[in-house]
Amino acid sequence: MTTPGPLLSARGLHVTFPGRHGAPEARAVDGVELDIGAGEIVALVGESGCGKTTLARSLLGLVPPTGGSVSFAGKPLAYNSRALKAYRKRAQLVLQDPSGSLNPRHTVYEAVAEGLRIHGYGGDEQAAVAGALARAGLRPPERFFLRYPHELSGGQRQRVVIAGALVLEPELLVADEPVASLDASVRGEILALLLRLRTELGLSALVVTHDLGLAWNIADRVAVMYLGRIVETGTVEQVLTAPRHPYTQALLSVLPEAPGEPVVLTGEPPDPSRIPTGCRFHARCQVLASGEAEEAGVADACRTRDLEVLAGSGEGQVACHWARARVTT
Ligand SMILES: Nc1ncnc2c1ncn2[C@@H]1O[C@H](COP(=O)(O)OP(=O)(O)OP(=O)(O)O)[C@@H](O)[C@H]1O
Ligand code: SF4
Ligand SMILES: [Mg+2]
Repeated sequence: MTTPGPLLSARGLHVTFPGRHGAPEARAVDGVELDIGAGEIVALVGESGCGKTTLARSLLGLVPPTGGSVSFAGKPLAYNSRALKAYRKRAQLVLQDPSGSLNPRHTVYEAVAEGLRIHGYGGDEQAAVAGALARAGLRPPERFFLRYPHELSGGQRQRVVIAGALVLEPELLVADEPVASLDASVRGEILALLLRLRTELGLSALVVTHDLGLAWNIADRVAVMYLGRIVETGTVEQVLTAPRHPYTQALLSVLPEAPGEPVVLTGEPPDPSRIPTGCRFHARCQVLASGEAEEAGVADACRTRDLEVLAGSGEGQVACHWARARVTT
């Protein structure tokens, strides 16, 4: 079945956590619009604590939004257990740490078959498990059936986790830092696997990462998140070769292959319970600090005027007064 419009779509999404011990509430996701098309890979990047995992989990219905909505295949998510169970079959989470997501007392076979059993699969379970392991690159699959996680390498464990997601034949994978805990040599293999799955199965994916190199290698589109909002979005080429938001520019400047001096961000680390007025990045912005925003006549706006939420799927969008002034002058 083909779906007109995006496969997954978030509109005005908010996730707010209550503050502890009288602290203000934390606006971990603060008005996000995001579309993921069928067969599209979108990378969600940003530094630790910017809300990537919270956004990913709310897109899967694992954290109910406090505002806004998520739609899948054109239908809004319903937050009852039956609807969510059906949704989890179509949209699967792949977690960062394969050791943490595999039960050490379960064999590979049991780990992969678990999802089938939860969803009351009526077909040939053994064939489905073998097929998923083979698609995840564990061949011949039967050789892995009776192994335990501690008998596998880190890369093999991550493949088992991916097989556990694939066995339900989902349309969307949400992968939260899928290679962060792996050696560099194994990372490439897992990334190649994700790309192959997109080609072979037409899978869509949201890949959460703070590694911009990974985004470059795998994604069609990149969304850069800062303090609960997407501040820049576009194709990989647009965002990673011609970044327009000072925050994206700073993230890229610290990569080993980046030309010029790295931009060291100053100011307090971002805190979602104290989102600044004006542009949420203004207290750390190198363009504001250097006087360039003043020269462009936007410094007051930077300090006082919030930027609107970017649309979910448009190309080359940026939430920055200065970047916009540069285009129009
Ligand atoms: N259950 C919760 N209760 C209160 N605050 C939370 C909760 N979960 C997350 N937060 C806060 O929301 C913010 C976003 O957290 P989140 O885990 O989504 O960030 P992240 O971008 O995934 O970070 P990392 O790259 O370190 O994984 C953080 O400030 C975090 O402390
Ligand atoms: S709006 Fe102003 S403070 Fe915000 S990122 Fe752009 S230049 Fe920096
Ligand atoms: Mg996270």
